[in-house]
Amino acid sequence: NKVVLAYSGGLDTSVILKWLEVEHNLDVIAVCVDVGQEEDFFAVKHKALATGASKVYVIDVKEEFVTDYIYPTLKASAIYENDYLLGTSFARPLIAKKLVEIAEKEGAVAIAHGATGKGNDQVRFEATIKALNPSLKIIAPWREWNLKSREDCIDYAKKYNIPIPVTKEKIYSRDQNLWHISHEGGNLEDPWNEHDNDMYLMTVKPEEAPNKPTYVEIDFEYGVPVAIDSVKYSPVDLICKLNDLGGANGIGIIDIVENRLVGMKSRGVYETPGGTILFEAHNSLEKLVLDRAVLNFKKMVSEKYAQLVYDGLWFTQLKEALDKFVDSTQKVVTGTVKMKLYKGTCKTVATKSPYSLYNEAFVTFGEDDVYNQKDAEGFINLFTLPLTIGAMMKKNKNKK
Ligand code: ARG
Ligand code: SIN
Repeated sequence: NKVVLAYSGGLDTSVILKWLEVEHNLDVIAVCVDVGQEEDFFAVKHKALATGASKVYVIDVKEEFVTDYIYPTLKASAIYENDYLLGTSFARPLIAKKLVEIAEKEGAVAIAHGATGKGNDQVRFEATIKALNPSLKIIAPWREWNLKSREDCIDYAKKYNIPIPVTKEKIYSRDQNLWHISHEGGNLEDPWNEHDNDMYLMTVKPEEAPNKPTYVEIDFEYGVPVAIDSVKYSPVDLICKLNDLGGANGIGIIDIVENRLVGMKSRGVYETPGGTILFEAHNSLEKLVLDRAVLNFKKMVSEKYAQLVYDGLWFTQLKEALDKFVDSTQKVVTGTVKMKLYKGTCKTVATKSPYSLYNEAFVTFGEDDVYNQKDAEGFINLFTLPLTIGAMMKKNKNKK
């Protein structure tokens, strides 16, 4: 029988590969999904084969990641607990979808993953698998075996001659893709420890960023970024370009305590350089083109959307319905935003759009012809009628 394993080439998934073979007697197909993490995929492929995989897939899904996962979430302005741009959260359903596709093609009976039993990722992988093909069995070794620590894994690796990464001791649990890198564990586990800014991998330290601001203009079409400084880019290149610009200016570092779906709090540092620029720019453009009622309502949608994504509920009826609402709002989110990047901050300095609802002629303190100041008196009389009536009734009551 065959099992499809989400394989990264790291110690954990290498041990899992062998363990599936030894303990479950399964034929392991290792799948490494390229969502933009920095990795030597050639080496990963060879490592999987050397560890005993019967077949290895390395699949590049970067473009699909940007267009079908990152952009819908950006359009929705979804941000978890006000801070987290969901970089790991929305990569999991895509990875799981690919695992299902390969499992079906290979006639595998199960899918295995290396997420622990304490986190969000297990939920995201498994919710997707259940939504797409509930007949596939799920194997989550971390919930099953009795290896308890990294040391146990190293012992297991030694026993079966699995090549152990020679890199220096792994300090953090990290997850990287095109959108971000997350760091958890190590000395971050005590929230009273200030994080060590030598940890950054996508950004320079804000205090070491250039002393001169960098300006960048981003063009959006229907809520989606299409050009930087008037130069068109493909989706993947656009994110890479903004990661470079943001990274060089120390943009997009957050250090937060968040609520995991499984009930506990965890502390993490995230670097989302390009994503932070895009999120800010997109929000600014929406403020120019969406009316007050839509902006207000969309806030609720953003909140709900972020929660669904965080909780792994990507392939659900509600998520699909919210996408339809969001897309309808994005019909006018076309225009240009000028951003100023400076030592870790990223601010909108100018916006323009053919769909702008802002009209200088209307707000001006000078004369205009759509707004008659006399109308405001009647408006205020009716708008405040409940206040007026309330006050009158109270006065009458006091008299009696
Ligand atoms: N806490 C973040 C989230 O739940 C990041 C998880 C990182 N995952 C990992 N396997 N290192 O989305
Ligand atoms: C894990 O537990 O595997 C990583 C962290 C998470 O999923 O939240």
